[in-house]
Amino acid sequence: MNTPMQKIIVERLCKQFGRGAEQVHALADIDLGVHENEFVTLVGASGCGKSTLLRILGGLETIDSGSARVDGREIDGPGVDRAMVFQNYSLYAWLTVMQNIQFSRRLKINQRDRTDAEVETASGRADALLRLMGLAYMADAYPNQLSGGMQQRVAIARALMSKPAILLMDEPFGALDAQTREVMHDLILHVHALEKTTIVFVTHDVEEAIYLGHRVVLMAPRPGRVDSIYDVPLPAKRDPEMKLSPAFNALKRKILMRIRETSGMKTDLEMLEQLTRS
Ligand SMILES: Nc1ncnc2c1ncn2[C@@H]1O[C@H](COP(=O)(O)OP(=O)(O)O)[C@@H](O)[C@H]1O
Ligand SMILES: [Mg+2]
Repeated sequence: MNTPMQKIIVERLCKQFGRGAEQVHALADIDLGVHENEFVTLVGASGCGKSTLLRILGGLETIDSGSARVDGREIDGPGVDRAMVFQNYSLYAWLTVMQNIQFSRRLKINQRDRTDAEVETASGRADALLRLMGLAYMADAYPNQLSGGMQQRVAIARALMSKPAILLMDEPFGALDAQTREVMHDLILHVHALEKTTIVFVTHDVEEAIYLGHRVVLMAPRPGRVDSIYDVPLPAKRDPEMKLSPAFNALKRKILMRIRETSGMKTDLEMLEQLTRS
């Protein structure tokens, strides 16, 4: 077969929360495949199950039925092959930037058994990631001395430390201002190219979803489901200028219209409120 290998396969996945009248069909019959080294973005109205799906892929949430596999193996809890980045940076306030990056369970466990060479490799990688994030000069600073964008770069570096094959990102740039977000977009695209990571990225920003994604997966609520999937018709090497192109804007309009249709929202203001409510 010529098609790229499927890294993640989700089939007929269902997930409910609560019981009886309280029951929420967070995810109903989700089918989704993500290729190795693909960058997939998930958009959709608030409550359509984006975070739940991502948490399932991260092994932080169980499923009721169906299947969610990575490399053909059923997901059974978190693993070093998958790293998550959330909107709130979740850095340890009492550790420096460098200590935050090097802090991971994997590095802590078996520390006594580690050879000098392994420790050397790990600190070499931490240095390299810090440089990649443009934060080498901040290695000894504490999180409260950093801007939001810098903190999120540290969180990304920390996530990359274990060389995860899959990066799962839940509205990672949602709290940043527009300018910082643009910088982060090109940074994450660079990371994706460099590290050959497979990325699943949740956002409520349709423009962000198109700019970053090879494909945009549109989810719809009640019950949470995959409504449609769009191929992004942009050159692989992205450039912010592309956001001005007719193809970009046509797709943006199409997706926004479909989000509105699938969520029963009538006005743009209503939609904006829905999309940004967390
Ligand atoms: N731990 C939970 N307990 C009960 N309901 C939940 C829980 N997590 C999510 N839900 C519900 O599942 C649905 C999907 O939530 P979520 O995945 O957070 O959506 P999204 O990220 O797209 O906004 C929502 O109706 C939400 O209220
Ligand atoms: Mg969410």
